Amino acid sequence: MNFSLKGKTAFITGGSRGLGKAITMALSEAGATVAIVSRTESELKKTAEEIEENGGTCHYSAVDVQNREEIEKFAKELFEKTGSIDILVNAAGINRRHSFLEFPEDEWDQVINTNLRSVYIVSQVVIPYMQKQQYGKVINIASLTSELGFPNMAAYAASKGAVSQLTKVLAVEFANDGILVNAIGPGYFKTELTMSLFEDEEKVAWMKSRIPLKRIGVPDELKGTAVFLASSASDYITGQTIYVDGGWLIS
Ligand SMILES: NC(=O)c1ccc[n+]([C@@H]2O[C@H](COP(=O)([O-])OP(=O)(O)OC[C@H]3O[C@@H](n4cnc5c(N)ncnc54)[C@H](OP(=O)(O)O)[C@@H]3O)[C@@H](O)[C@H]2O)c1
Repeated sequence: MNFSLKGKTAFITGGSRGLGKAITMALSEAGATVAIVSRTESELKKTAEEIEENGGTCHYSAVDVQNREEIEKFAKELFEKTGSIDILVNAAGINRRHSFLEFPEDEWDQVINTNLRSVYIVSQVVIPYMQKQQYGKVINIASLTSELGFPNMAAYAASKGAVSQLTKVLAVEFANDGILVNAIGPGYFKTELTMSLFEDEEKVAWMKSRIPLKRIGVPDELKGTAVFLASSASDYITGQTIYVDGGWLIS
């Protein structure tokens, strides 16, 4: 069994903060050269410095995941520098909360484009590099809402349900190229995305009451699953969404 990512290159969208950052740190700690994109240069720089301080290598660029040309440019430069792109983590995501009948069209589009269309764009750009190598591991970030319906989450849940389905289609389409495609479905973790929920004590109590492990997860608890899915330890697993949720979905 091999969990090492030495010699591998990982491209992580949304790797500058939150869950994407925890995953980036994990892949770096396991030996991968990491490359991160998000829109905020200062956060990217800070994360890259942390990785370099720990002895890792981190490339970064302030890129919007909805911009195909910028993604193409970054992926090409990365491939030229490192000679391979072995791992892709699609972690960039946003949420907007509105009741369904009041959901503004522009915000609907923002959520769907950031959470779903970006997975289509970035995967379409990066997978051809993996095909050249006949090797690759793609990890999409799904959500409890890939399975469950929560109020005021229409666009987010629709995007995350679709991410799980897209994971299955890509797994089937690229199985013969040695490219394995899985997703991680996090439960609730405290990040910028969920901050407003954690300010509401009643909401926190409700969340804990739904979780068999009776506590909220911390982003570092995604690290093991990310390294597992990125490494050869998971070489017979494809098309799955693995939930890291303290047991929420099974109770
Ligand atoms: N936190 C949770 O409980 C939870 C649960 C289930 C799933 N998730 C998923 O986990 C992923 C990470 O979320 P998080 O909780 O860590 O949120 P977060 O702290 O807000 O991080 C989101 C990341 O995505 C980037 N991003 C957003 N829009 C982007 C765009 N258009 N182009 C490039 N980068 C973009 C952000 O950077 P910029 O804003 O600087 O661009 C940031 O790096 C998301 O897919 C989210 O849906 C989170």
